[in-house]
Amino acid sequence: MKNIYSNIFKFNKKNLSKCIKYLQKSDLVALPTETVYGLAGNAYSKKSILKIYKIKKRPRINPLIIHYSNYKNALRDVEINQNFTKLYNKFCPGPITFILKKKKNSLVLPSATAKLNTIAVRFPSNYKIRQILKKLTFPLAMPSANISSKISPVDAKDVFEEFGKKIKMIVDGGRSKIGVESTVLDLTKNISILRPGSISAKQIKKIVKKKITIVRDQKNIKSPGALKKHYSPGIKMLLNQNKSFYNHAFIVFGRKYKKSKNIFNLSSKNNLNEAAKNLYKIFRKIKKLRYKKIYVVSIPNKGIGIAINDRLKKAAN
Ligand code: TXA
Ligand code: MG
Repeated sequence: MKNIYSNIFKFNKKNLSKCIKYLQKSDLVALPTETVYGLAGNAYSKKSILKIYKIKKRPRINPLIIHYSNYKNALRDVEINQNFTKLYNKFCPGPITFILKKKKNSLVLPSATAKLNTIAVRFPSNYKIRQILKKLTFPLAMPSANISSKISPVDAKDVFEEFGKKIKMIVDGGRSKIGVESTVLDLTKNISILRPGSISAKQIKKIVKKKITIVRDQKNIKSPGALKKHYSPGIKMLLNQNKSFYNHAFIVFGRKYKKSKNIFNLSSKNNLNEAAKNLYKIFRKIKKLRYKKIYVVSIPNKGIGIAINDRLKKAAN
């Protein structure tokens, strides 16, 4: 039988070289990270950046995150500060993105950062992407590997569902460990969280010992990706419900829910990390089953629950 997933590749030595070659030629590849899968291209290549926006159907005003293997490489493109250094030492590599001032002689293309004078930098911890980043002489511009405003992918087949054979290579890294996108933290002035993620305000505050603002519903597109509608399965969604109807999908959390065809439990163990990991998979499942409406119970708003609620709110918008 013909393998329809012929652009999904195992991570081995041979495919690693293949992947590097694609990136050097300004082709795009999809890569696993600990948060969600990304669509990667050379951040210093105009051609790559153009392709990313085109394939994702992403508005040009929405800047990309630039991924580096380490601090030293990022120094080429951004001005660092004390808060960054402290947070880097504590959390990186890991699921956090820092907004920093762009250096005047930075090689990151203006088209990759929506012409802003800042750059979002991230140092992913996933072993496979780290092996790739270490072999490159340029950083990777890498948004989540989904069509703009749709559900982020958490495994190689999810990426295939989004783009099919439009990209030459999807590196299979299994299921993303965290399941929601990185925390986006603005360090250019007062420290503020533009997008909550698995690293919480509380954890950040402990390190920088300063007040952390949490930015809700940004009006002036400061982080355009925080655009109100996002992560959307494209189905009417109602939040904070305590019951549902048999013909609607019901997303629940915790022990007390029985198994039933229309009930999708984020975590029957009451575990918020497990819930985050399952969130986008459950969105995809419900979408495939063609439900017309989704009811969702309220989710505890602490730890990574804050990120889950942020995504639910945007999906319901
Ligand atoms: O976990 C993640 O961050 C994943 C993986 C693949 O690394 N990437 C990701 O990228 O979620 P994306 O493009 O889906 O989301 C990037 C977010 C958007 O909200 C974007 O507006 C914001 O970061 N962003 C990027 N550059 C920015 C900048 N210079 N200033 C403010 N926000 C920025
Ligand atoms: Mg995204």
